[in-house]
Amino acid sequence: APPVITIDGPTASGKGTIAHRVASALGWDVLDSGALYRLTALAVRQLGVDADDELAVAQVAAELDVAFQGDLVLLSDVDVAALIRQEEIGNLASKVAAYPPLRHALLERQRAFRRLPGLVADGRDMGTVVFPDAPLKIFLVADVQARAERRCKQLKEKGFSANLPGLLEDMRLRDERDRSRASAPLVAAPDAHIIDSSSLSIDETVNVVLDHWSS
Ligand code: CDP
Repeated sequence: APPVITIDGPTASGKGTIAHRVASALGWDVLDSGALYRLTALAVRQLGVDADDELAVAQVAAELDVAFQGDLVLLSDVDVAALIRQEEIGNLASKVAAYPPLRHALLERQRAFRRLPGLVADGRDMGTVVFPDAPLKIFLVADVQARAERRCKQLKEKGFSANLPGLLEDMRLRDERDRSRASAPLVAAPDAHIIDSSSLSIDETVNVVLDHWSS
C-alpha cells in the first residue's frame, strides 16, 4: 500500500499547516479529514437537515459532492474553503463528528485518498481508525493558550471576527467533546510519536516530522 504519515491532534494544534508542509516536502498528497466533517456540517445547514438526526446527517455525508483542488474546496462545484472555516461550522462539525453513522459514512472516502507516491493525513483518528497500518504516526499537541492565539490569528487573516476569551472557551469545550466521545475519541495511537509544538516554529515542527520519516 502507498505510504501514509498520519498527523492527529486537538483543535488548532497546527496539524493542517504541518501536514501541508510535510506533504510538499515529500511531493505527497494531503487529506484534510476535518474538512470533510466541516463540509458535512455546512451541507447540513444549507439543506436544512436536522443536525440532531444521526442517520440523516450520515446520509448527507454519504452524498456529499466534494472536490479538493489546490486551495479550493468545492461543494457541488462551489468553492466553500472560507465558509467551512467559520467557528460556527467548526462547532457544528465537532458536534456531528460524535455520530458513529457519520464516521462510518466517511471512512472509505478518506481511505480513497491513499495513492502513490504517498499521503499525509490530518485529523483526529487517522492513526487509530482510518490508517491503522500507517508507517509513521504523529500526535501533535500544544497548550490551549497557544492554540487559541493561533486560531484567533488565522480567523482574522481570513477576514472573520474573533475574540480570544471566546475562542479559549470554545476550544476547551471542543477538546473535551473530542476526547470524551464514545466513537473514535481523540487519543494518540500507541505507536504515535508525540510532538509538543507550543514552543516550536512551523519549520522546526516540520523538520521533526521529516526526521522521523527518514530515520
Ligand atoms: O482544528 P479544528 O478542530 O478547528 O477543525 P478540523 O480539524 O477542521 O475538524 C473539525 C471537527 O471535525 C473537529 O472538531 C473534530 O471534532 C472533527 N474531526 C473528527 O472527528 N475526526 C477527524 N478525523 C477530523 C475532524
